Amino acid sequence: MERSLAEKVIIALDFDSPEAALKAAGSLRGTGCQIKVGLELYTRAGLDFVNRLTEMDFKVFLDLKLHDIPTTVEKTFRLLINSEAHMFDVHCLGGLEMMARAADLCHGAGKKLLGVTMLTSIAGSEMGSIGLSGTMTDQVLRLACLARRAGLDGVVASPREVSALRAECGEEFLIVTPGIRPTWSEANDQARAATPAEALRAGSSFLVVGRPVTQAEDPLSALERLWD
Ligand code: C5P
Repeated sequence: MERSLAEKVIIALDFDSPEAALKAAGSLRGTGCQIKVGLELYTRAGLDFVNRLTEMDFKVFLDLKLHDIPTTVEKTFRLLINSEAHMFDVHCLGGLEMMARAADLCHGAGKKLLGVTMLTSIAGSEMGSIGLSGTMTDQVLRLACLARRAGLDGVVASPREVSALRAECGEEFLIVTPGIRPTWSEANDQARAATPAEALRAGSSFLVVGRPVTQAEDPLSALERLWD
């Protein structure tokens, strides 16, 4: 695979043991793909683990989806920005001030910050039960606009909202999409997935891909076959 395409792929390293995660990462070394470390692995292995991945020349997106009062989030980012991760995220529902204070710290350290709009596990039919009115797309667009006002670099959103987000937020805004399934892979619990090519065509900046690559017998060949 061309390096420029691999650089658009962020592999979600969702393993419960750091050893298994490092083994999978090792097989993808040198391809140019990025790595996403989530809450479970971070809780188990901490920032040292993130730094081990950057020593292997991976760019690391530390996906902790912070959501707390502005002061707590700011103090946490004062610690996180000392790691070698290059990108972080917060929940947009934390509000403008929380996002802006986190973004200032990230940018001061040369890092990027994304906002999580709506979790893909929330169905449109559940919006009322958490006090939200309007459609899922309305909600995602509203939160993305708030994130942009707060100075964030982009958002995490499902492939379904990418076209509307790209039209609303412009070419420079990063749109990072999980819910990616190549034509040859199982859906797992991804109900409304897009293929890598579809997501890029719709305007995704980066694709988050987990199990199709990490659970493959040969992760490197699965990465190379993403566009088949
Ligand atoms: O499904 P896959 O293993 O490719 O998941 C990669 C990432 O996508 C996960 O780390 C999680 O953040 C996100 N995900 C999601 N919705 C799901 C399952 C996973 O957004 N239903």
